[in-house]
Amino acid sequence: MGLLLLLRSLAMLLVVVPVCLFSFSLPYIVAQSDMKTSARALDALLQDYAYRVFVRPRTRIVYNGSVPSNLTGMKIAAIRLRSGSLRTRGVKIYKEFGIPIGVTESPYVERLVLVYQNLGNWSKTYYPLPGYTYLSPVLGILAYDASNLIATNLPELEIRASGDPLSITFQDMMSAPAGSVAKCVWFDLHGLIC
Ligand SMILES: *[C@@H]1O[C@H](CO)[C@@H](O)[C@H](O)[C@H]1NC(C)=O
Ligand SMILES: *[C@@H]1O[C@H](CO)[C@@H](O)[C@H](O)[C@H]1NC(C)=O
Ligand SMILES: *[C@@H]1O[C@H](CO)[C@@H](O)[C@H](O)[C@H]1NC(C)=O
Repeated sequence: MGLLLLLRSLAMLLVVVPVCLFSFSLPYIVAQSDMKTSARALDALLQDYAYRVFVRPRTRIVYNGSVPSNLTGMKIAAIRLRSGSLRTRGVKIYKEFGIPIGVTESPYVERLVLVYQNLGNWSKTYYPLPGYTYLSPVLGILAYDASNLIATNLPELEIRASGDPLSITFQDMMSAPAGSVAKCVWFDLHGLIC
């Protein structure tokens, strides 16, 4: 019964989430392909809207973005970083995320953008998990090349934590209903839940 779930995931980040104190024992579920398609289309749309915050952008500043009115309820943000600075300094606090030292992207780019997604009340629409109750919105961080800030349909970069894992401190989290156990779940870019 019960259940829970929370969070979303991030693009190809293979990390453990210390603040999410739940065990990872969900069955491996293959997402339905139409859900995968709509979630990927959403990633592309949010990349486009997030990049619109960059009007004379400074590096290492978090800019809040705006979503189109048909997606009200989602939140997005973007930060532009030098790749070397991401690796050597991390980003202590980026919305709910903490990015430690030692994170690298692949393929290598000189500067990158980390797009933050908080799907809010749309979480279930884009990442449906029948039978589970969401305790938090689905959150994500996706990395892109920053060399062209008006680019759309950019491929995601793979990001990897070589030292400490990234952390997520959920802010809008409900407590698990009595008798149920909370779990962290994540989705990679292919829509799989691990
Ligand atoms: C960005 O949004 C957050 C809340 O979502 C707010 O606390 C913060 O002040 C905003 N930052 C800017 C620069 O507007
Ligand atoms: C929402 O609006 C944007 C901008 O008009 C549009 O590109 C997008 O296809 C619309 N629909 C969805 C489901 O995102
Ligand atoms: C989410 O909330 C906004 C209003 O804040 C509403 O316009 C939108 O339809 C809601 N989305 C869903 C999937 O219920």
